[in-house]
Amino acid sequence: APLKVTKVLCIGAGYVGGPTCAVIALKCPHITVTIADINKARIDAWNSLDFNLPIYEPGLEDVVRQCRGRNLFFSTDVVKGIKEADLIFVSVNTPTKKSGVGAGFAADLNYVELATRQIAEVATTSKIVVEKSTVPCRTAESMRTILEANSKPNCRFDILSNPEFLAEGTAISDLFNPDRVLIGSLQTTEGKDACASLAAIYANWVPKENILTVGLWSSELSKLAANAMLAQRISSVNALSAICEATGANIDEVAHAVGYDSRMGPKFLKASVGFGGSCFQKDILNLVYLSESLHLPEVASYWRQVVEMNEYQKRRFSKRVVDTLFNTITGKQITVLGFAFKADTGDTRESAAITLIRDFLSERAFVNVYDPKVEESQIWYDLAEACPTMTLDNIKKQVKIHKSALEASKNAEAVVIATEWKEFKEIDWAEVYKHMKKPAFVFDGRLLVDADALSKIGFKVATIGRPSI
Ligand code: UDX
Ligand code: UDX
Ligand code: ADP
Repeated sequence: APLKVTKVLCIGAGYVGGPTCAVIALKCPHITVTIADINKARIDAWNSLDFNLPIYEPGLEDVVRQCRGRNLFFSTDVVKGIKEADLIFVSVNTPTKKSGVGAGFAADLNYVELATRQIAEVATTSKIVVEKSTVPCRTAESMRTILEANSKPNCRFDILSNPEFLAEGTAISDLFNPDRVLIGSLQTTEGKDACASLAAIYANWVPKENILTVGLWSSELSKLAANAMLAQRISSVNALSAICEATGANIDEVAHAVGYDSRMGPKFLKASVGFGGSCFQKDILNLVYLSESLHLPEVASYWRQVVEMNEYQKRRFSKRVVDTLFNTITGKQITVLGFAFKADTGDTRESAAITLIRDFLSERAFVNVYDPKVEESQIWYDLAEACPTMTLDNIKKQVKIHKSALEASKNAEAVVIATEWKEFKEIDWAEVYKHMKKPAFVFDGRLLVDADALSKIGFKVATIGRPSI
């Protein structure tokens, strides 16, 4: 019969594990949830008295305030956590490998393996182990092999796959109200029991019909597939945006018309300067790598094209800036509004803004950056990584970080919108115009501002997916 879970451990207190398990604690007061991480600074932040949490998510602080110290605990003591738990989420990072076999494509599963080995080593009672990190297909099988090879008498491990579909910036509402919860298990009696134990946790707030139970492999592949197909929609619309710019069609109108087809649906059809974030590119590259290892080169190249189109979109946008500014931006002041990979997050992983600024720097422009949420130190870190041929000192000679959009755009020749922060829509653009060099240009990489209104003020406006006005 399914075990009734009362103690949950989450290994990894990051973007996925932190919010997910905090919400489990909120919705299941009868369950004690511990979130453990080897990164002490991160745990200290989760425990900070002023709730200065390590990640910014609307609504997260409120959840943590309600549960922390009640049935939600943050700790660096992974060993103690493992010993006490009935069910363990493995939610550690799985970055793209930087060297070795599959470098640039395959996920680095070292952290998953280390966490799994530690569970096997330390556990003295049976555990349900839940794979929560995004990992390529068949990782659960490796985890199972490691756990079984190291299990002790009276100590069995059941492995589940439970991919997380939350998006950053809306993590809490996505967790409160998920489209679906997906649980993969072996189709054995034990596997199905473990699946029922986890499903019972979610059933505390998710309607039963939204909890999907499938095989282990299907579950793992579904996560990669969902992200690849979402990214594919963006690349498709971005490919069309290039045609629009060249022909006078308007991508917003095209996307609207296409999305009205109920077979298509209106979401995720917003043309942009390129998708970013920790998941899309990584998951597609995982899918490419997986296809190649399965000797399916046509499948691999099909998915690779989604990432290539995204790179092209970013390149195309920075080229449009240079072309429009009379074919040179050397020595010119360019303002980049937004550094996060999308609005309502401080996360910058794979942000298009980084690529744009790198391109502007290689044209020897001066860049003025403003983002309402991203820390200064993060901007320097990302730019240093993106520009390996420049020293940080040289980067700092060309880049200035500002405290407001208005300040960042003083004396600039062009303002480039890289992130769709709502406050950029509400800027006093007439005031911005006054303080800029003329002709003053706005490049809208997010279909954010009213191009016609800006044009009336005097701006020259270039919007993604529309001819310049
Ligand atoms: C299509 C468009 O649906 C329609 O809007 C347009 O006006 C004309 O082209 P049609 O070609 O008649 O219509 O049929 P459709 O139902 O779209 O199917 C096209 C092909 O796709 C068929 O061979 C169908 O079997 C196949 N298909 C469709 C799949 O293989 N899988 C699916 O999920 C859907
Ligand atoms: C994504 C998936 O949405 C989520 O289900 C999965 O669990 C993790 O990956 P996330 O990366 O947080 O979530 O953000 P998302 O909202 O999907 O946006 C990804 C990127 O695509 C952003 O850079 C965003 O600006 C861009 N985007 C999104 C577009 O350019 N156009 C769109 O229409 C939608
Ligand atoms: P994600 O976006 O997938 O949540 P993050 O990088 O935000 O990824 O978080 C993963 C967290 O997992 C990091 O804080 C990292 O310190 C932690 N971590 C990695 N390996 C282990 C481990 N073996 N034990 C505990 N925590 C770990």
